[in-house]
Amino acid sequence: MADGPLRIEPLPASFGATVTGARLATLDDGVFARIYAAWLEFGLLICPAQYLTREQQVAVARRFGPIEFAGIPISNVRDDGRLRDPDDAWVRVLKGNQGWHIDSTYVPVQSRGALLSAQVTPAEGGETEWADMAAAYDALTPDMQVRVSTLSAFHSMKRSQAVTGDDYRPGADHGGYGADAAPPLRPLVKTHPETGRQSLVVGRHAYGVPGLDAAESERLLAGLVDMACRPPRVWRHAWRPGDVAIWDNRRTMHRGLPWDLSRPRVLHHTRLAGDPITEFAPSPSPS
Ligand SMILES: [Fe+2]
Repeated sequence: MADGPLRIEPLPASFGATVTGARLATLDDGVFARIYAAWLEFGLLICPAQYLTREQQVAVARRFGPIEFAGIPISNVRDDGRLRDPDDAWVRVLKGNQGWHIDSTYVPVQSRGALLSAQVTPAEGGETEWADMAAAYDALTPDMQVRVSTLSAFHSMKRSQAVTGDDYRPGADHGGYGADAAPPLRPLVKTHPETGRQSLVVGRHAYGVPGLDAAESERLLAGLVDMACRPPRVWRHAWRPGDVAIWDNRRTMHRGLPWDLSRPRVLHHTRLAGDPITEFAPSPSPS
């Protein structure tokens, strides 16, 4: 992607924008400030043809803020180049993340945002979808907004993987990040610390709304996801090598889409650390 002029074009959805005319690896401070402002305004930036190295990706991420993970391969390819077995521990996590989620809601400080860059992409499938949870909150009836504003849900990666049949645990190939975490209890409505907008915090890691029985809780949470993740509040990106996506985990959910696991797909993921005050949630014992 050649330098300038910077163009930030809204996607045909309630959120998101395409950024062209800027090389993320070499932004001056003025252009970065415009991109950061666009990240807050749109919640998702699609930046084609960036071809970032891992080091450049981490350096770009650090301009947005402190990092939770520098580099995770979101991939069905092992370090030695062989394809992973479809029942490999990593692949089970990839399959789990085909459910809508917000990154790291299952640890005490949820993620602020994330970058993904495409290295190797299959000819078909393997897209990523995002959903605008601020627009979803705005679309609720006033009565429903009041109701959800009084409720919270526990979040657990161990549990959400178990729902898909996976025994997610420390010491597995992927390390089992968060498997030992006491499930945080997060309000269903989050106020964005930088924009002030309210958004829904639900997705696959959420369960066990206190005050509701298990069936009522599941019905409410699933209903909110179903309502939220519909046009114009969703965007699907079909990856091409070199593409970078930067999203705000304080406003959006996302999920990967399936692809033929006999084909390689390699994305690099860098996760931005949440603010320890505004993204923190306590972990009380379930009552
Ligand atoms: Fe994710």
